[in-house]
Amino acid sequence: MLGLVGLGLAGCGTRARSQPMTEPARPPGDGLADLARAHGISFGTAVQGELLAQDQVYAAAVAAEAQLLVPEWEAKWEALQPREGEFDFGPLGVVAGFAQAQRKQLRGHALVWHNAMPDWLAPALAEGPARARAVLAAHIEGVLGATQPLIRDWDVVNEVLANPPGSRFTDQTPARGIFRDTPWLRALGPDYIELALRLARERDRTLRLTINDYGLEGDTPWAEQKRQNMLALVRALLAARCPLDAVGLQAHLQVDEPFRPEPLAGFIQTLHGMGLAVLITELDCREGANLPPGQEARDGIVAAYVQQVVGTALAAGCRTVLTWGLSDRDSWLNRDPDVARRDGQQHRGHPLDAEFRRKAMWQALARSFASA
Ligand code: XIL
Repeated sequence: MLGLVGLGLAGCGTRARSQPMTEPARPPGDGLADLARAHGISFGTAVQGELLAQDQVYAAAVAAEAQLLVPEWEAKWEALQPREGEFDFGPLGVVAGFAQAQRKQLRGHALVWHNAMPDWLAPALAEGPARARAVLAAHIEGVLGATQPLIRDWDVVNEVLANPPGSRFTDQTPARGIFRDTPWLRALGPDYIELALRLARERDRTLRLTINDYGLEGDTPWAEQKRQNMLALVRALLAARCPLDAVGLQAHLQVDEPFRPEPLAGFIQTLHGMGLAVLITELDCREGANLPPGQEARDGIVAAYVQQVVGTALAAGCRTVLTWGLSDRDSWLNRDPDVARRDGQQHRGHPLDAEFRRKAMWQALARSFASA
């Protein structure tokens, strides 16, 4: 199979349409990634390949602010294996080409997830455990074979834990014990998690293997329950000598969720004590139902909340922070009907506003890095 290294170079630059810059070119070295790096922290963002290729303002912002890129869609199952046995590395290649040209690092997201599954996948898993194992092995083999050596860190499994009762997330997929009830769980039981991690390690001995999930940051009973469930899962995996290197905290934050540093810090330190790294993988921040008057007040609340959470994670030893997009303009928060506001307002949960101007959340991240 042709590796991504070869495929990647085709996408970017050549297809870029010329668009006026809305902001003057920045002097090199004052982006969030530079500020973070000075304190030993790696900062990055989720990116969309189409925008990297077609929108110079977007591409320039990514180049200026981020050192680590994660494809928002292009490395999901649906993108990589839309039909069984037919891998398509084209969209991911666009992101990889940009990363290579700009000397950015890439992380992979996600090998196993209950969303962004192509139509053929759930019926195939339903055919039984042997078939499910074969499908998983073939995907991991095909994907890691092509993405090595460019991607050295993968979210191997994403969102495998159920939301404990009482959680406010709209996604209330039923639970089976601590696990989310998904086609993978139905086919293989919780063992699919261990199997995916083992297959990934077998295919690539030095790849960083990450378990990624959300709802782990707040000071609520259900967030605490989910943290305990994550610790139970990690303990069980390690006890079974299953390879695992890191836990990703998605950190899709909501300002009206109670937060205290101690529970999050304690959780991160416990994971560190088990030998795992902890990353913030998908940071963004939603506002409450009642918005204060004026944009400045709104942005100030988001910034203060983000600084508390990120500051806590960094103080506890987290060394990698990625936002789920840089600007409000391109955010899933404003695109996805499940998370978009219903009052006609746009979310302002990213470091850059819809015109790519740095806003209070940008400053909050900069301050968090500076005091790490
Ligand atoms: C989201 C993308 O941003 C959206 O564009 C897409 O419609 C759905 O997926 N947790 C994850 C990400 O792990 O993959 C999700 O990304 C956001 C929540």
